[in-house]
Amino acid sequence: MTEKFHPFPKDFTWGAATASYQIEGGWDADGKGLSTWDVFSRKPGATFNGETGDIACDHYHRWRDDIKIMQQLGLKAYRFSVGWPRILPAGRGKVNEVGLQFYDELVDALLEAGIEPFLTLDHWDLPQTLEAAGGWPQRSTAEAFVEYADVLSRSLGDRVKYWITHNEPAVVALMGYSMGIHAPGARDHGLFAPAAHHLLLSHGWAVPVIRRNSPGAEVGIVLNINWVVPASNSAADLAATRIGDGEWFRFFADPVYGRGYPTDAVEHLTKSGFLPNGLDFIHPGDMESIAVPTDFIGLNYYQRVIVRTDEQGNDPPLIERQPQTPEFWTEMGWENYPPGLTACLGRVAFDYQPRKIYITENGASYSTPPDESGRVADVHRLNYLRSHFIAAQKAIEAGVPLAGYFVWSLMDNFEWSRGYSQRFGIVYVDYQTQKRYLKDSALWYKDVIEKNGLDGAW
Ligand code: FCB
Repeated sequence: MTEKFHPFPKDFTWGAATASYQIEGGWDADGKGLSTWDVFSRKPGATFNGETGDIACDHYHRWRDDIKIMQQLGLKAYRFSVGWPRILPAGRGKVNEVGLQFYDELVDALLEAGIEPFLTLDHWDLPQTLEAAGGWPQRSTAEAFVEYADVLSRSLGDRVKYWITHNEPAVVALMGYSMGIHAPGARDHGLFAPAAHHLLLSHGWAVPVIRRNSPGAEVGIVLNINWVVPASNSAADLAATRIGDGEWFRFFADPVYGRGYPTDAVEHLTKSGFLPNGLDFIHPGDMESIAVPTDFIGLNYYQRVIVRTDEQGNDPPLIERQPQTPEFWTEMGWENYPPGLTACLGRVAFDYQPRKIYITENGASYSTPPDESGRVADVHRLNYLRSHFIAAQKAIEAGVPLAGYFVWSLMDNFEWSRGYSQRFGIVYVDYQTQKRYLKDSALWYKDVIEKNGLDGAW
């Protein structure tokens, strides 16, 4: 272990990330249409305590103050998402000018504060009208997405120069359509692949549209990645590890980088009944569209996953990894494993040769509240971030083209099916008063940004 200063490259993009449904609230404000999350969160049993994003952090009304916080932290960039149903309440067709104006003003204020906007078009809050017509498993949803990307990039493309099409399409396809624990709550394995395909296809179709409307813009997609390792060297564990990685990562990364769907994953999906109609949703030219060159890939990394099967190759029994302390386990039940970040970055850089990588999300859930003086001593989060920053710097040293790092999240927010029970923010939000408190991790992050590096042991 050595204590040393870990410098980051000049112009490294230090940022923080949020998503529209998780922070905005204003669920029916100013002509906004319903999203799948507005509907899903109201279903009995869908979310922790039946909580919804109706109000969330009330960012829709408090965004000016939130930008002041970003400025105070010295953030170089802010990754946020646009609520599609604010812009096109019915998913396509008539534009809601008031909704558009919200993001227009937000972008202007960010630029004025010297903060680069990174805009995500789809962070899961699909217009309910499109879901009612079949949602992502339908090709028409991909067409609607292009219309939305066109409207938004025509209006903001002169100022927004970093565009992300989708956030974690794997989570939408698997957790939303196949497992039913996210919106829209479908439990149909047969919907996974068509949903995945149309998410990817809409990405491929939207990229040239965004480039046309926003000259000089950089466009990419965000994928979730875990460091997935087998519990043992047994053939079954190795096979299960590869299957997991195939469905959650390569099924998305491979086509984006021009390799089509991975054959081993397709084989496994076929055997498991996930492809009742084969690959009939792929039309001629689709795979070429999906493979459109991108300027960067965004990776969301949180944890290592250890895969163990039983002898029949069935689902892994829970692995008890020790020690079960908050230092090693976040409150999400996710393992704190910084070397996994170095490994994932190296793996993606080597396997796919992206032009640039951003860590578009990384962070930890710990509920530490403010003390009487208002201080939030979130030492576990601070240590989590510190060790992951160092892990990222290791990857840079090894030649990974990592251009920036977005902490998840700027502030505590609505954590999907887990409601408000999980706090990922570097800023604490008191949901009763909507008061914000800078946690120790935020103050420390400010210092890292200022120095463009950090002290720490490795
Ligand atoms: C990611 C999501 C993000 C947040 C974090 C904890 O999968 O993209 O919205 O919920 O997990």
